[in-house]
Amino acid sequence: MSTIVANTPGKEAPGPRGEWLVGNMRDFRRDSLGTLAQSFATYGDIVKFKLGGRVLHMVAHPELAQEVLIDRSSEFVKMPKHQGLGLMLGNGLITNDNHESWLTQRRMMQPMFHRQRLVAMGDKMVAAGERMIGRWQAWPDGETVNIAEEMMQVTLDIITQTMFSADVLSEAGRVGPAVATTTHFVSKRGVGPIQLPVSWPTPNNRAFRQATQTLDEIVYRLINQRRAEGTTHGDLLDMLLEARDADNGESMSNQQLRDEVLTIFAAGHETTANTLSWAWYMLAQHPEVMARLQAELDSVLEGRTPTIADLPNLPYTQQVFNEVLRLYPAAPSIPRLVPRETTLRGYTLPAKSMILLSIYNIQRHPEFWSDPNTFNPDRWAGDNHKRQHRLAFMPFSAGPRICIGNNLALMEGQLLLAMVAQYADLRLVPGQQVKPEVAVTMRPKDGLQMTIHPRH
Ligand code: HEM
Repeated sequence: MSTIVANTPGKEAPGPRGEWLVGNMRDFRRDSLGTLAQSFATYGDIVKFKLGGRVLHMVAHPELAQEVLIDRSSEFVKMPKHQGLGLMLGNGLITNDNHESWLTQRRMMQPMFHRQRLVAMGDKMVAAGERMIGRWQAWPDGETVNIAEEMMQVTLDIITQTMFSADVLSEAGRVGPAVATTTHFVSKRGVGPIQLPVSWPTPNNRAFRQATQTLDEIVYRLINQRRAEGTTHGDLLDMLLEARDADNGESMSNQQLRDEVLTIFAAGHETTANTLSWAWYMLAQHPEVMARLQAELDSVLEGRTPTIADLPNLPYTQQVFNEVLRLYPAAPSIPRLVPRETTLRGYTLPAKSMILLSIYNIQRHPEFWSDPNTFNPDRWAGDNHKRQHRLAFMPFSAGPRICIGNNLALMEGQLLLAMVAQYADLRLVPGQQVKPEVAVTMRPKDGLQMTIHPRH
């Protein structure tokens, strides 16, 4: 593994040669995660790829993350809205590429995500967990379920209850496939040979537009219901509806409201759900870790349902969750555009090229993690991990565009981990191939079949 060395300005970063015309496109389309991991192992912290005529650099070192996301963030900007996730989320908080209007949005929404406010939402999180376990209780011991779908449902329940005071559980069956279709579309298009306008009637475009329509229907129903009720709930939806432009006093357009709501709705459940699915996958393969987790839960909770207030007293639960976030970051790499030619550690990054900051590779970087690919919650015990680079662990990114939902995700994730592990053992159905698939987020490709065995 090569580490970073000061290079002469203007050098070309190393990387796989690729094929004539298409460059490395085929590898990316086949397995982007594997391609990035392999190239990191072979070439080191900065790797150059070609996707057709476009240049892309994979970047994987905490010091480089510090440069790209914090110290020189004005040189590495969000992708233009018509190219990436913006096709799905429009001008919402994640995809807005205009610094000033993004800052206004962020300041408006930030209070909703303050720790105190989230703690007050704890009851709603517990209630959603209880609804899920209540459903499970009606099933026989050893029932087989796709646990990835279960996690998607419970986190959808939580995000809509906490942020929009609404119940969309009956829609869960439509939301999952629609989110999967749109994120697949966006990520395949990003590494595709040609980018036809979305309005053209190709089968992929049609499927994308249909899935977007499904999500729009659900989001607009939430908005219209609240407007019709005329009542306030003190939630994010109220905040968005009440927001006024500082210059002209106007409220948000319907389109902007839709973009903000859909952003929180999608980013706020899919990521946490995937993290929890990976947690069950890891725990099923490490029964000794599950046993220690359950021992902590039994001794601290003595059989009662955990609450947010219990989390500080459940250090091993936190360690397990952190270790899953390290090995399976739900957003494994984040894209940035390089508008003007610049250099990074001496390597030339051409104007209009792209960066993929690989959180996945950073969090498995052998310079910072011993036995990097091993699931070992003990590495989080005590103060050990605090001695290393702050950005060697960065599942929520860093700098101004850091995840706004990081505290919510941590509370919710640890709480659900505790509730489910307290209730049952989850075993993997033998014979299935569990492979990660990245379509913006990282999920088990074909779901995760597990059997549920209540403990008492
Ligand atoms: C384990 C769960 C989660 C992970 C791993 C995660 C990860 C991330 C990452 C890496 C980014 C940076 C993206 C970039 O800059 O390109 C991000 C941004 C964001 N996340 Fe999360 N996220 C999680 C949960 C949540 C939740 C629960 C919410 C909402 C309630 C949320 C809402 C957002 C938003 C709105 C942004 C954009 C922030 C901005 O640009 O100002 N995320 N997230």
